Amino acid sequence: MKPHRPFTDRLSTDRFSICLLFALVLSLAPVFALALSPQAQPQTAAVATHPPGAAIASGHKLATEAGLQILAEGGNAFDAAVAVSSTLSVVEPISSGLGGGGFFLLHDAKTGKDVMLDAREYAPESAAPEEFLDKNGELDRDRSVNGPWSAGIPGLPAALVELAGKHGRLPLQVSLAPAIRIAKEGFPVYARMAKGYASRREVMERYPGTREVYLRNGKPIQEGDIFRQPELAHTFELLAAKGFDGFYRGETAKKLLKGVNQAGGRWTAKELAAYQVKQRTPISFEYRGWKVTTPPPPSSGGIALVEMLQILEPWDLQKLDEAHRTHLVVEAMRRAYRDRTFFLGDPDFVDIPQEVLTSRDYAQGLRATIHPDKATPSDLLSGKPTPLEDEETTHFSIIDAEGNRVGGTQTVNLLYGSGLIPSGTGVLLNDEMDDFALKPGTPNAFGVMGYEANAPKPGKRMLSSMTPTFMESPEKVAVLGTPGGSRIITMVLLGILGYDAGLSAQQVAALPRYHHQWLPDVISAESGAFTPQVAEALKQMGHQVDLPGETAADGRGSSHVWGNLQTVMWDRRDNTLSGGADPRNPVGEAKVELKP
Ligand code: GLY
Repeated sequence: MKPHRPFTDRLSTDRFSICLLFALVLSLAPVFALALSPQAQPQTAAVATHPPGAAIASGHKLATEAGLQILAEGGNAFDAAVAVSSTLSVVEPISSGLGGGGFFLLHDAKTGKDVMLDAREYAPESAAPEEFLDKNGELDRDRSVNGPWSAGIPGLPAALVELAGKHGRLPLQVSLAPAIRIAKEGFPVYARMAKGYASRREVMERYPGTREVYLRNGKPIQEGDIFRQPELAHTFELLAAKGFDGFYRGETAKKLLKGVNQAGGRWTAKELAAYQVKQRTPISFEYRGWKVTTPPPPSSGGIALVEMLQILEPWDLQKLDEAHRTHLVVEAMRRAYRDRTFFLGDPDFVDIPQEVLTSRDYAQGLRATIHPDKATPSDLLSGKPTPLEDEETTHFSIIDAEGNRVGGTQTVNLLYGSGLIPSGTGVLLNDEMDDFALKPGTPNAFGVMGYEANAPKPGKRMLSSMTPTFMESPEKVAVLGTPGGSRIITMVLLGILGYDAGLSAQQVAALPRYHHQWLPDVISAESGAFTPQVAEALKQMGHQVDLPGETAADGRGSSHVWGNLQTVMWDRRDNTLSGGADPRNPVGEAKVELKP
C-alpha cells in the first residue's frame, strides 16, 4: 500500500509542478508570441532607438508646416502640437477651435510614460435637461445644436496652456506665433469651408459677432477669398501673453460672457474660470504583439477598441477571405457599440464597469456569441438603438526626433459648431452639448442616443468618440486618429488592422471604410469598400449592406465617403519615418523632416 502523503507535502509537490509549468510557459512565451504575431519577426538586427527626424500629419498643410516650423525653432512634439492645434483652430473653423475641446494623447520618450489630456468641454451650471425640451416635452433641436445653449465651456485654450507649460520647452508666444500670423494675414478659403458655410448660413448669421467675421460687404465667404480673423489673432495674443487667464479671465472672458448672455444663454464668470484640463491614464492593451494606447472615458473610443480587438484577436484575419473577415469585424463592431450606448459617460460622474468591459474574459464571452458565417441580428443583443452619427472634428499626429509623440483630436462638434461668435473674440463656440443624452432615449441631431450615464449635469463632460491612438511593436511605432463622429472608432479599428496587416501609413489613411454600430442593423460602406461579390457574400450571411449612390467604375459600390485620417509611422528596423494624409481631404498634409 502507498504511504499516505500529508496535505502539506502534496501542496508543495503541486506548487513545484505549477512553478515548473509556469517557468516552462515563460521560457516558451517568446516562441508562442513569434508564432502568433505577424509583427513579431525574429530580432536579428538591432532596431533604432530614435527616429531620424520628425513627422507630422494634419488636416491642413498650414498646420503641418506650423508644427515643423516650431520643431525647427527648437521645440519638441508637444510644442509642435500647440502650433498644429492652434493653426487648425484658425484654418479649420468648420471643425475645431478655441471655442471647442479635444483629447491629446502624449508619449514622453524620456520617461516612457503616456498620458491623455482631457480638454473636453463641460456643461455650464444652467444646463438642466429641461432647458433643452420644447413646450411639448420634446428635444428642442435648435437649442441643442445652434447658439448659446448648445455650447459647453471650452477646453482647447486650457489644453494649449497645459501642453506648453507642462510638456513643451518653448513659451506660448513662440508656439502660438504661426496661428497668430495666419489669423492676421489670412489664408485662402477652400471648398469644404465655403460649402459648409452655405449649409450653416442661416444659423451663423443670427449672431452679430459671427456676421462681423464671415460677411464681406454683406456677402458670405467664397472659395479662394483670403480669410482674415484679426479678433481671433488678438484673442490668441492674450492667451500667449497671459496663459490660462488670457482666455478664462479678464478681457476675453468678459467678451465671451457678454456674447453668450446677449444671445440668450447663461454662462457665469465663475464656471469659465473653473475650467480644468484633466490628466487621465490612457487605456493600454496588447493586440497581436502591438501595444495599443488609446483614450479612456469620457472618450468612448478606448473601451470600444479594446472590446473589438480582443474579440478579434484569436482569429488570423489575413487568412480569411474578405467576406468572412469583414463579417467577423462587423460582429465585433456590433457588440462594442451596444455597450457604448449604455455604460459610457464622464468617469467623474458615473461608475463605468471599465475593468469588466476591457477584460479578456468579457471579450471571450462576446466572441462565443458570434456565428462564423451568420450575422447576429442586432435585436438579439439586448438594448436600445444608437443610429448613425456624423460630425466635423479634426485630428493630427506627431512624432519628433526624440521619439515623443502626440495624437490630438479636437472639435467644435458639428460643422461650424454652434454658429455663435461672441463679438470681438473671433472665437466660434462649440455645440458639444448635443453630445449629451439631452433627453434620454431620444436620438440627437445625428441619431445618437444615450441614457443616464451620459445625461447632462453642471460640470459634467459629454461622451465623445474622439480616439487618438498609439500603436507600438518592437519594430514599429504609429500614431493615428480621425474625425467622423461615431464612425471615428471603427475607422481607427480598420487603421489598426491595416497596420497589423503590414500596410504603409499612406495606405492606412486611404483604406476604404465600412461601419456598423449595432443599430441601425446595417453595414454602411464607402465607395470601394466592397466588390459586388463581397457585398453579396455578406448579404448571404444575413447582413444588410448599405451601398447607396453610384457604382464606381471598378464595380465597387457606394459613392459616399467619410473621415479624414491623419497618421505617422516610425519603422525602427530601417529607421524610416512616413506619414499618411487622408486623400479624401485635399488640403491635408503629412510631412517628414529628417534631421540635418
Ligand atoms: N463631437 C464629436 C465627438 O466628440 O465625438
